[in-house]
Amino acid sequence: MSVDVLLGLQWGDEGKGKIVDVLTPNYDVVARFQGGPNAGHTIEFDGKKFVLHTIPSGIFNKKTINLIGNGVIIDPQILQNEIRHLQESGTDVLSNLFVSRKAHLILPSHRVMDAASEQQKGVGKIGSTLKGIGPTYTDKVSRNGLRVGDICSGSFKQSYEDLKKRHFEFIKLSGFDHKAHFIDGLDFDSYEQKWMNSLKKLVDMQQVDSEYFINKLINKKKRVLAEGAQGSLLDIDFGSYPFVTSSSTTIAGVFSGLGIAPNKIRNVIGIFKAYCTRVGSGPFPTELFDNTGALLREKGREFGSTTGRPRRCGWLDLPSLEYAIMLNGVTELVMMKADVMDELEEIKVATAYKVKDNEIDYVPFEACSENMEPVYESLPGWNNSISNFADVHDIPANFEKYIQYIEGKVKVPVTVVSTGPDRRQTWFRKDNPLV
Ligand code: GDP
Ligand code: IMO
Ligand code: MG
Repeated sequence: MSVDVLLGLQWGDEGKGKIVDVLTPNYDVVARFQGGPNAGHTIEFDGKKFVLHTIPSGIFNKKTINLIGNGVIIDPQILQNEIRHLQESGTDVLSNLFVSRKAHLILPSHRVMDAASEQQKGVGKIGSTLKGIGPTYTDKVSRNGLRVGDICSGSFKQSYEDLKKRHFEFIKLSGFDHKAHFIDGLDFDSYEQKWMNSLKKLVDMQQVDSEYFINKLINKKKRVLAEGAQGSLLDIDFGSYPFVTSSSTTIAGVFSGLGIAPNKIRNVIGIFKAYCTRVGSGPFPTELFDNTGALLREKGREFGSTTGRPRRCGWLDLPSLEYAIMLNGVTELVMMKADVMDELEEIKVATAYKVKDNEIDYVPFEACSENMEPVYESLPGWNNSISNFADVHDIPANFEKYIQYIEGKVKVPVTVVSTGPDRRQTWFRKDNPLV
């Protein structure tokens, strides 16, 4: 068994990019298995900061193979921008990057469809990143999509035009004015031209039958890390539907998004923030609307890596964390961003919800912030900066107690603790099987 999986246990933005980058030297392959450019994975080292959307976060290690799996959806234009940005910083991107032929393409008209669909939903909108995620996965499942491996087929141009026509029929029906809608600051025709040009570059990249590619590497005893995007509470089946994304963000996505069998999985590394954030609409029982929420947002720089939107902030929610641990079979935990709470005298943690006078400790079918009043337990803050300790043994006692409190509740060890955005601000706790 040589495949480990790292995935988010909350509503995304837990810090997956940072930790994948930190763990990459332990792996031969890093592979993305779902999602698309709705993801924004931030990595900071040597005073530089990168945000990756489609490219796996192992790209900064020259020895690591990076694979964009079949479950990922690709916008060639966004991918090319990402590649160019990395190359400009001196990163060798293309020699270690492989793309599945079976990955689906996000067309410019998918992005217009996304905007039209959100407009139609009005106040009930999802709060999508508007990268065309929902419409692209919809076309995949309804068997209308176009894949990377299709680009070179003789019928690609016709299939593209046919699909675009269908999209524009929907857009027209919805009353959405696509001429008034700009994609990345460009009108549709200019954007489409750029998209077509980047398609040619995608053809020149290393395309593979990724399920064979990765299984051959596994058979050669290469170590693989599967990198999740989004978080378990945004999962299409188990998230707060319909305020979710359109892919399987839980462990199930690894099997369908890479073609890896369940018996190849070793560790399931679940990553969570020491508090909670959410961007976009949907229930968030522990959301804070007061000064503490504002402090978490400002100190935690909680603004979307992909859209720049302010993230909603609140206390840690244990029933939903336990739910995500259960769904994924998490074997160890990584805790992020506790440094953001350094100044707090008191830290609250939700251990249950009050729903219609009943106390429940699970995530109910009708999850909705208004009907779920969190039941909190209170812990003392550590009143100390934890960002720059030289040694894991120097950490404040109350901080260690906070970690142990969470471990005691969820019954899974916290093996890695992150106390700042930089690679170096990472502690491996004792008995860590990853090092
Ligand atoms: P991802 O989508 O899960 O990769 O997470 P994002 O990159 O969208 O958001 C995480 C944000 O927190 C980024 O701005 C990171 O640079 C930052 N970050 C990661 N770990 C820490 C940490 O331990 N402390 C602080 N203060 N910031 C962190
Ligand atoms: P990473 O990988 C946080 C949210 C959107 C919206 C909902 C649906 O960086 O953790 P979509 O664009 O998929 O149709 O949006 O999901 N969302 C994310 N929130 N982090 C992400 O990715 C997200 N990807 C999508 O804000 O509420
Ligand atoms: Mg993110």
